[in-house]
Amino acid sequence: MAVNPAVYGASTRPPRGDYGRAADDYTCTQDYAAYTAQDHALYHRLYERQSAQLPGLASQHFIDALPLLGAKERIPRLEEVSERLYRATRWQLVAVPGLIPEAPFFTLLANRKFPVTDWIRTPAEFDYIVEPDIFHDLFGHVPLLFNPVFADYVQRYGQGGLKAHQLGACEMLARLYWYTIEFGLIREHGALRAYGAGILSSAGELAYAVRSPEPQRLPLQIERTMRTRYKIDSYQQTYFVTESFEQLFALTAPDFTPLYACLRKLPEFAADAH
Ligand code: PHE
Ligand code: FE
Repeated sequence: MAVNPAVYGASTRPPRGDYGRAADDYTCTQDYAAYTAQDHALYHRLYERQSAQLPGLASQHFIDALPLLGAKERIPRLEEVSERLYRATRWQLVAVPGLIPEAPFFTLLANRKFPVTDWIRTPAEFDYIVEPDIFHDLFGHVPLLFNPVFADYVQRYGQGGLKAHQLGACEMLARLYWYTIEFGLIREHGALRAYGAGILSSAGELAYAVRSPEPQRLPLQIERTMRTRYKIDSYQQTYFVTESFEQLFALTAPDFTPLYACLRKLPEFAADAH
């Protein structure tokens, strides 16, 4: 996720949240030997539960790329996945100790480096975790980085983030991230599917986002996403649907500078506003 460190709770057990082991760009080394058998077993359980419910709910792009993460029985070595990813789309994975500040986050994305939190949740957090861990970052985000169009979109987002940072427009841009990269829906052969990592890594929200009559689903519209607040502690009440990654890319291609200036003067929408 990594959009706004301030909104997530403080970290608990080491190496969770130990930023002392990170370099200036906030990356660190994945201490693979530090994972316990319980950590690997938890990854396996999370993977099994999530992959079982993908058919009919997840984007086919995601389903097709998932095996590229490697064996599901243990936490992947980031370097191995990174090499595979680099060959496919010239993206790389870097380990980070957790959420990182906006500017270094955008810089990594602009350089086609995706930060992956290296620690895994505790078994007590099997159903729900408030901050991204390796399961969310890897299982949720990495498969679509194998898709060339989506991969380019995320890089553009990073470049746009650096600009938004200068313009004081990060909050608006973060909402676009939230409603696309984290909670985006896509229409594939006429049917709704999820491509957002926050949905795809959530046990309960996947079926809810795609099938429940409760939330509203709007056609993706950049202005509207940027004006719409979001909830971080409940299922979303509004989702935005794109027709394709090409459409997502095209809609976000224009320079956002004039858009930010204009949107600043307009009221926001509540997360559940109709
Ligand atoms: N076009 C955006 C800008 O000018 C950059 C961007 C691209 C942002 C894709 C998000 C996603 O700021
Ligand atoms: Fe995320």
